[in-house]
Amino acid sequence: GAAGKQAGFGFSFEELTRGIDAKHHVAPGYDADVLIRWGDPLFADSPDFDPYKQSAASQLQQFGYNCDYTAFFPLPQGSNSADHGLLWVNHEYTQAEMMFPGLAPEGQDRYPPEAVTKEIVEIEMAAHSGSLVEVKRGKDGKWAYVKGGKFNRRINALNTKMVFTGPAAGHVRMKTKEHPDGRSVIGMLNNCAGGVTPWGTVLSGEENIDGYFMGTVDQTHPEQRNYDRMTVPSPWYQWGRFQDRFHINKEPYGANHYGWIVEIDPYDPTSTPRKLTALGRFKHEGAGVTVNKDGRVVVYMGDDQRFEHVYRFVSKGKFNPADRKANMTLLDDGTLSVARFDADGTVTWLPLVQGQGPLTPANGFKDQGDVVIAARIAATLVGATRMDRPEDVEVNPKTGLVYVMLTNNDDRLPDLPHHVAASRPNAANPRAANSWGHIIEMHPPGGDHAASKFKWEILVKAGNPADPKTGASFNKATTENGWFSCPDNCAFDSMGRLWVGTDQGSKWQWTSGSSDGIWAMETQGPLRGTARLFFRTPVGAELTGPTFTPDDQTLFVSVQHPGSDAVDRVTKSGNRNGTFADPGTRWPDFKDNMPARPSVVVITKKGGGAIGA
Ligand code: FEO
Ligand code: CA
Ligand code: CA
Ligand code: CA
Repeated sequence: GAAGKQAGFGFSFEELTRGIDAKHHVAPGYDADVLIRWGDPLFADSPDFDPYKQSAASQLQQFGYNCDYTAFFPLPQGSNSADHGLLWVNHEYTQAEMMFPGLAPEGQDRYPPEAVTKEIVEIEMAAHSGSLVEVKRGKDGKWAYVKGGKFNRRINALNTKMVFTGPAAGHVRMKTKEHPDGRSVIGMLNNCAGGVTPWGTVLSGEENIDGYFMGTVDQTHPEQRNYDRMTVPSPWYQWGRFQDRFHINKEPYGANHYGWIVEIDPYDPTSTPRKLTALGRFKHEGAGVTVNKDGRVVVYMGDDQRFEHVYRFVSKGKFNPADRKANMTLLDDGTLSVARFDADGTVTWLPLVQGQGPLTPANGFKDQGDVVIAARIAATLVGATRMDRPEDVEVNPKTGLVYVMLTNNDDRLPDLPHHVAASRPNAANPRAANSWGHIIEMHPPGGDHAASKFKWEILVKAGNPADPKTGASFNKATTENGWFSCPDNCAFDSMGRLWVGTDQGSKWQWTSGSSDGIWAMETQGPLRGTARLFFRTPVGAELTGPTFTPDDQTLFVSVQHPGSDAVDRVTKSGNRNGTFADPGTRWPDFKDNMPARPSVVVITKKGGGAIGA
């Protein structure tokens, strides 16, 4: 339903009404069509999806699970086409309880670890990492993916070889029995958000990699301190039973192969993905890329965990529009820094350079490889601000201002003297028990993204403005549908308008029980801080990966884990007796024998035109 027009707003669509049900919804006057679903065949000879006859071999030929970040690469390469291109899609993680029929025994909330066979593990690994798929808009204005498209590719965690570049490549802490040279690895994990470089490659962030490792940390091992900060083993997966690299007692340095930004060339299906160690190892959300006015490439990155940091990488070399091959190595060498947000409104970028300040051999930093492998420890040592879960950081292409999504942090303690300083509120993270998140706007001086000091201010504190305990600060023009909680991914269209996607996790009370979705957000003028609801997901899903085509006429979004954030529904109904239980929605197929399927949705305006204009 529509909630009425709002005069004077930079987004002229009619607002959607908030709510929650089994379906997805978009503002009136728009179409939101399912483009590609988990299991859809990618190659000419790929088998059709059959959730009752899954195998690793078929999953390697099909679209993976839990789609997240999306990126659009025009075809032909170098054109500005908005009707034909390659869509990159991250596959963040798998959920055995949602994917496989009959895994949970009667009367149990969760499947037992022994229910997970080697074949299931290999299917899970095959369903991870990412897909590249050709997409095309037909004469009828409808998008479809091209089965058998010549660039179509499945990058996965089972058999895709990748290499390391930068200071940690070949480092002693990267050498394993499987990869004794410390320069290569199989697969990437938990790819959440990402970014696009000006030379037409995708950057994909490895986020919650700790969930993949089994074993116990040897408290005398030199890697122990880094495990404690970054990779405390909390196995969501059984992979370590079958693959030594996920068992930390067998491969103590195996975890150092994950937690990086990975660069992939979509236009070369034979290219080897490269893990860019110069950008640091942490729980990467995404990568906001811009070319600085002096030609250096700047990448902004969030580390999504409670009390972690916001980072920036500035390349040493300069972007050359005429030399794509040279640009491909720009992110191998440069300066990584981390942000300190002071109460006077200054951001100071603190360099993470071995030998500078506390980053000395005495503190465990013998070379720059040590710095990037233990980036979190280095960042805290130099005095970076501990934030409320930094997610996407994106640059407004029109104004050059930089926006940081801070999703929430319910562990931030009240401002009492007996709480350690790092866990108490600070100027940039002002709310204790921050369940709702906020957005910070950063101002590079004179548009210089490489400057050592920026200014910052809070654009909005999220949450329900009608509930005073949230302390939410939306513009008063925001309607009861327009407020949101838990900003996560964001995107700018080419007109410089901000779109915010939300991820409330399983905490439906934080949004008064309504679905995640995408909101348009005013950043300029008297309506700055006003948000308006445009699209919402089915129950239990999260909105991820918003991407506009170059003409702003198409918006791709991922609908991740439909049905599964409504935890009670999953645990009480489970996938038992060889069937898929109904987790509250069987989106998008709505067939009794089919599971809910994570899918990419494509949004267009009826009759054509820019989204939200
Ligand atoms: Fe995978 Fe930070 O969300
Ligand atoms: Ca995310
Ligand atoms: Ca999130
Ligand atoms: Ca989620």
